[in-house]
Amino acid sequence: MSKRTILSYPDARLHTVAKPVQGVDARIKTLVADMLETMYDANGIGLAATQIDVHERLVVIDVSEERNEPLVLINPEIVWASDEKVVNEEGCLSVPGIYDGVERSTAVRVTALDAEGELQTVEAEGLLAVCIQHELDHLLGKVFVEYLSPLKRNRIKSKLLKQQREEQKLDQREGRR
Ligand code: NI
Repeated sequence: MSKRTILSYPDARLHTVAKPVQGVDARIKTLVADMLETMYDANGIGLAATQIDVHERLVVIDVSEERNEPLVLINPEIVWASDEKVVNEEGCLSVPGIYDGVERSTAVRVTALDAEGELQTVEAEGLLAVCIQHELDHLLGKVFVEYLSPLKRNRIKSKLLKQQREEQKLDQREGRR
């Protein structure tokens, strides 16, 4: 297993639309293991393949307290979403340090393949439902800040670009790459 680099907003690659996974083979199993390691290492509750610059329909999620209930969704499709919606405070590993309210369905039903390639149906509500909708958006090239007003989004963009420039400067000064 190896940790992968997470793309940071506003990296244009985050807006790539992912293609279906063609088969759950050894390559996909390695990718799943790497994504879980990357998500746990970053203390995230979800990670989409898009965020590590792999543009295939694959997400990993773990919303458990103990961080021991990984959920792997390959070729996920939301087959039902509740009309009832609620605004939750969301964050994203690709948008570090930024949290804001996004309206989502309170419950969803998803079909997907699991890590063994078996078809599964997941009924989700609460945090898991929010997380699934957030991660599936990534596979469509959508980052949660795109639900915010253009003004807020531009502020976030400038703030993150400034941070990234400062990190780069620091890296160069310390001879890192
Ligand atoms: Ni995210």
